[in-house]
Amino acid sequence: MLATMPDQRSSGTSWRRELAAALRDKRAKLGVVGLGYVGLPMLVSIVRAGFRGVGVDLDQTRVDALAQGRSYISDVPYEVLADIRSRLRVSTRGSALRGCDVVLICVPTPLWPQAAGRLSRCRIRTIGRGSCT
Ligand SMILES: NC(=O)c1ccc[n+]([C@@H]2O[C@H](COP(=O)([O-])OP(=O)(O)OC[C@H]3O[C@@H](n4cnc5c(N)ncnc54)[C@H](O)[C@@H]3O)[C@@H](O)[C@H]2O)c1
Repeated sequence: MLATMPDQRSSGTSWRRELAAALRDKRAKLGVVGLGYVGLPMLVSIVRAGFRGVGVDLDQTRVDALAQGRSYISDVPYEVLADIRSRLRVSTRGSALRGCDVVLICVPTPLWPQAAGRLSRCRIRTIGRGSCT
């Protein structure tokens, strides 16, 4: 995780530069929430690219399958999963995202009122706007 986290009151760009550098150097830790058709290939790409990656999904059977090296998404073949298995971190617990510099949310949309509860465990804080260039 980056040494300094952005201060919401600050308009400084040092944390952005630090994040950009961490992404460039692959020091950044990236999280993916929702390991479905979008999220799982995303997490696999993150890990294959050399980043530390962690995935979170509410579905215990999916998390168990990945922990055992079994893919449930045709875009992610067994061989690819086997290749990165020792570096793949997956969990049903949001706390697994602690220490992530970037979290990509890949859960189903659209969000309708009855489904809002599915995101009730998310506590989102906006830390900045714009690109990290
Ligand atoms: N599949 C596509 O081709 C495609 C294309 C463009 C955009 N999208 C968008 O990408 C997003 C994800 O789509 P998908 O096809 O990967 O969905 P998916 O149904 O394949 O996977 C979603 C995953 O999120 C998990 N999940 C649901 N709520 C969660 C929560 N609160 N916390 C953690 N995990 C949770 C589910 O268990 C499931 O494994 C959607 O917003 C969709 O509209 C999908």
